[in-house]
Amino acid sequence: MDTRMKHQWDSLMQANYGTPSVHLVRGKGIEIWDENGKKYLDFLGGIATNLLGHNHAKAVKAISDQAKVLAHVSNFYSHEPGLNLAAKLIEMTGDETARVFFCNSGAEANEAAMKLSRLTGKTRIVAAQNSFHGRTMGALSLTGQPAKRNPFKPLIKNVKHVPFGDVNALKRAVTKKTAMLILEPIMGEAGVVVPPSGYLKKAREICNETGTLLVIDAVQTGMGRTGNWFGYEKDGITPDVITIAKGLGGGLPLGAMIALGKAAGMFTPGMHGTTFGGNPISCVAALAVIETIENKDYLALNRVKGALLKNVISPIIGVSEVRGEGLLVGIVVKDAKAKEVAQRLQDYGFLVNAANENVIRLAPAYVVSESQIMKFAAAFNDVCEEIYRG
Ligand SMILES: Cc1ncc(COP(=O)(O)O)c(C=O)c1O
Repeated sequence: MDTRMKHQWDSLMQANYGTPSVHLVRGKGIEIWDENGKKYLDFLGGIATNLLGHNHAKAVKAISDQAKVLAHVSNFYSHEPGLNLAAKLIEMTGDETARVFFCNSGAEANEAAMKLSRLTGKTRIVAAQNSFHGRTMGALSLTGQPAKRNPFKPLIKNVKHVPFGDVNALKRAVTKKTAMLILEPIMGEAGVVVPPSGYLKKAREICNETGTLLVIDAVQTGMGRTGNWFGYEKDGITPDVITIAKGLGGGLPLGAMIALGKAAGMFTPGMHGTTFGGNPISCVAALAVIETIENKDYLALNRVKGALLKNVISPIIGVSEVRGEGLLVGIVVKDAKAKEVAQRLQDYGFLVNAANENVIRLAPAYVVSESQIMKFAAAFNDVCEEIYRG
């Protein structure tokens, strides 16, 4: 970003994000351009959000057609895109008892889940250390990262954070007094941390034994990113609540809290709501995203592309591990140099995110091609040669 724009940003925006280093003006697929015409390959996808990439013809048409017909109606009224999307999401859960509440973001979806859990008559919540569930006060109370929580204490009480992946810790923490247990299938913000296989199955059993709602936060893993719709399916479980956002609207703000089984009927009129949630334009965008994922078989393709990414990145100098599932990939680099690697990749024309000092997170759009993956791997190799050998 040039000096004039940096100055503009600093004089207009609050400092919560810090000053961005890139100012973007347009995109096509996973290619994106800054104000000086420099092209980047976007391997972060708007943080796991632009599932079809930028300017996808089908999504653009759906959004612009809907804008001409009905843009917003509030939650007093019903509309076809909302009903169609809810029906589709219920079908994707494989459980026809599921019912949908639409909101605008991941934090809001988790707030809704928290409120729902209060209707069990219990208030205790268990979540994972290092987890990320959002930044609003309720969602932040779930988030297990002290640096994000501490400046805003006191948060909502009675949330216990346990080590992720540790079944015994879950057994100790989740009791008959627990209202809900919330887990990400893979912890994205924490650095793409994958739990041991069967962890969610054990969590399900513990929740069944104690009458605890199992909430799966699929905000980052959801919408096909890991090779199935929500990220929990490989463990063969059915959650009580699924929260989604990010990729759901393919770049338009949209979230949902889907409750299943007994949890589906807990909210009654007047208990919860939001003005914009599930507005017609975001819903048609989501329908276009889902239809494209199905037509192009992206669930299967994401697994193939994820495996390719792992294969080509793993042997590179400085890389100690490549983890994740499908197109949610964490590259663990040596000597806490993730930020330096991310910055150099940006200089080379690749957008990625250093989730922390050790891990580069990739969450590209599903339209990413094999040749773009190979270009990325070549650049990653050059950057690591410079940093680790040079
Ligand atoms: C797993 C998870 N939950 C919740 C959130 C919060 O979503 P939002 O930023 O849309 O509020 C995020 C965002 O990164 C997330 O990764």
